[in-house]
Amino acid sequence: MEKGTKNKMRGSTRRLAAGLKPHQLDGRQDGQTNRNGKRESKRSAKKEEAETGHLLRDYFIMELRDLYWAEKHLLKALPKLAKKATSEDLRDAFETHLQETEIHVQRLEQVFELLDEKARAKKCEAMQGISDEADEVIKETEDDTYTRDVALIIAAQKTEHYEIATYGGLAQLGRTLGLDDVVDLLEETLEEEKNTDRLLTAIAESHVNVEATVE
Ligand SMILES: [Fe+2]
Ligand SMILES: [Fe+2]
Repeated sequence: MEKGTKNKMRGSTRRLAAGLKPHQLDGRQDGQTNRNGKRESKRSAKKEEAETGHLLRDYFIMELRDLYWAEKHLLKALPKLAKKATSEDLRDAFETHLQETEIHVQRLEQVFELLDEKARAKKCEAMQGISDEADEVIKETEDDTYTRDVALIIAAQKTEHYEIATYGGLAQLGRTLGLDDVVDLLEETLEEEKNTDRLLTAIAESHVNVEATVE
C-alpha cells in the first residue's frame, strides 16, 4: 500500500470512529476559509466525504475476501486433519468443526450479499502458510501416535487463532461502519472459533499431552 493511501485510511478511520465528517474535523462549515486561506467548496467537501467511506469499506471487503478464501481452504484441510488424528475425541472435534466451517462459508456469503458485493475469494497467504505447516507436522510425526495429536492440535489452534483475530477485528470495524447485521453474523462465527480453540485445549490437557510423554 502506498504511503499516501495509508495515511488517508488512518485519517478516515479516525473520523469514522468519532462520527465526524471530514469537513467537521476543525469546525469548518462548507464554503468557509480553511487553514491555508483557501475557500473550500461544498463539492470538494462532499467528494472527500465519499472517498472517506470508500477507502475503509474497500479495505473491509478485501479482508472479507481473504477470510472467505481461508474458510474455503479449511473445508479441504480439516478432513485431512481428522483422517490423520489418533484420538477419537480429536477426530470428532475436527469433524464437528468441518460442519461449522461449512456454515462459516455460508455466513460470509450472506455478509457479501448484505454488502451488495460478489462473494469472491482472495488467496490468504497466512492461512496457506499455516496449512503448509500442518502438512509438514503430519509428515514429521508417526501415524497412530499421541505425538501426532499434540502436533495436530497446535497446528489447528494456529488456524483458529488466525480466524479469531480476523473475525474479531472485522466485527469491530463493522461496528464502526454501522453494519449491525454484518457484525451479528461475524460474531456468531467468532464464538464458534473460540469454542473450537477451547475444545482443542481441553483435549490436549485432558489426555493427549500426557499420553504423548510416554511414547
Ligand atoms: Fe471458520
Ligand atoms: Fe475455525
